[in-house]
Amino acid sequence: MNPALGPMDLARFGAAVAARIGLDFDETRFGFLGEVLERRLAALGRTPAAYLARLEAGDTAEELGALARELTVGETYFFRNREQFQALAEIVLPERRIAAAGGDGVRLLSAGCASGEEAYSLAIVARETIVDPASVTIRAVDINPAALEQAAAAHYSPWALRETPPEMRRKWFRGDGRHVVLAEAVRSAVGFAQRNLLAPDPELWPPGHYDVVFCRNVIMYFTPAQARALIARVAASLRPGGYLFLGHAETLRGVAEGFCLCHTHGTFYYRLDWRDSCRTIAAPVRKPAEPVSTAPQPRHPATAPTPDMPAVRAALPTGRVAEALASVRTRPPEAAGETEALLAEAMVLADGDRLAVAEAACRRLLAVDPRNAGAHYVLALCRERAGDCAGAAEHDREASALAPEFAMPRLHLGLVARRAGDRVLARGELGQALVLLQGEDGTRLSLFGGGFPRDTLVALCRAALRECGGAP
Ligand SMILES: C[S@@+](CC[C@H](N)C(=O)[O-])C[C@H]1O[C@@H](n2cnc3c(N)ncnc32)[C@H](O)[C@@H]1O
Repeated sequence: MNPALGPMDLARFGAAVAARIGLDFDETRFGFLGEVLERRLAALGRTPAAYLARLEAGDTAEELGALARELTVGETYFFRNREQFQALAEIVLPERRIAAAGGDGVRLLSAGCASGEEAYSLAIVARETIVDPASVTIRAVDINPAALEQAAAAHYSPWALRETPPEMRRKWFRGDGRHVVLAEAVRSAVGFAQRNLLAPDPELWPPGHYDVVFCRNVIMYFTPAQARALIARVAASLRPGGYLFLGHAETLRGVAEGFCLCHTHGTFYYRLDWRDSCRTIAAPVRKPAEPVSTAPQPRHPATAPTPDMPAVRAALPTGRVAEALASVRTRPPEAAGETEALLAEAMVLADGDRLAVAEAACRRLLAVDPRNAGAHYVLALCRERAGDCAGAAEHDREASALAPEFAMPRLHLGLVARRAGDRVLARGELGQALVLLQGEDGTRLSLFGGGFPRDTLVALCRAALRECGGAP
């Protein structure tokens, strides 16, 4: 080692690396740190004093990238911890698709994506789970530019697919000599960028932005303080009820509060705690829900939208809320009654996260048609997104009482109850939703079903029911 480098230099280098990148090197690894420092000094032609002073003062992203090439561990592969991707497919994405809805769709982040396998696995699952790929945004960031170059090339060794199910290999990869190449549809679904997870970066961490963050096998290499700083940033950038996936060897214990531990599919992951108002559902029940009847029910006109609603619904996941609204508003008055137009408008507004206006539309509708179950359901969605789960539960119950064959309020109430930890209520509502979903009116599903086909809603319901200890 360079005789000019003393233990103090190595200690300073280690501290600067921890402060700037997060990585934790104790004294047993000073030999390795010394070799890296020597290489950087030789590459830049700087003295140890000058180099360390610049690094401590906040050197460029370029230098941090060069250090990351040397210091980070980039081990990764497709569908690593496969059970987490099953949970993503069966619980997390369907739920976030309903909860997040709105014009912006579902947003995923792979934080510390290395050579891209994790982010591309997310993209494959999203394509197989969500009907409209345009309603999902996947970002993937890493500090190491060499890893990002590999990600962009999307050429992998077959070993990278060791956990990939055969049917997915066939569908999304093709052979190319000794390599496999990822399908363009998956490659183009991910936006990669070089980012330091520890740098103050409002563009990467907007408040309440992501539905799901995969940050796996990153904080295990960090100092405890930097792990806490990163997870605090993740928490602030998750939407209420958003999910965080860590690596199998990682935990939030002692790192962060405010997350609930989820345990499904034989794996663990975290969900950002619902706001305090949602911890318990203390809904005063004004009308008890009627028992589910399989006999044909008279369908209230306002809960059976006109068949052109699928077109309106189709515009929602693409973010074209204004377009969807225009389509509702320009329908000729004779095509549907005023109540239907108002209901569709309310649903479109709620999907676009314009909650106050959506609620106002529902209340206008209820003023002329107090028994409109659809309006109560939309109010339940709005109340939940506003953090008022008791209000949401009340409107779901009202909707079910008015239209006992209407599946969505049962499903919604079941999910809200599950989140609040009321497993008994959750089981009851989800069980009823499961029965009702099989016979739910198709046009009503297309308006209220969050863009999901019946099968997906049934699968979501089943998975949630299993999670609450109900029969599958
Ligand atoms: C072991 S890999 C994990 C890859 C993938 N998440 C997985 O679990 O398979 C850790 C990645 O975190 C990245 N990393 C470490 N510190 C980082 C930082 N401060 N900012 C961004 N990426 C970082 C490394 O470059 C490396 O690619």
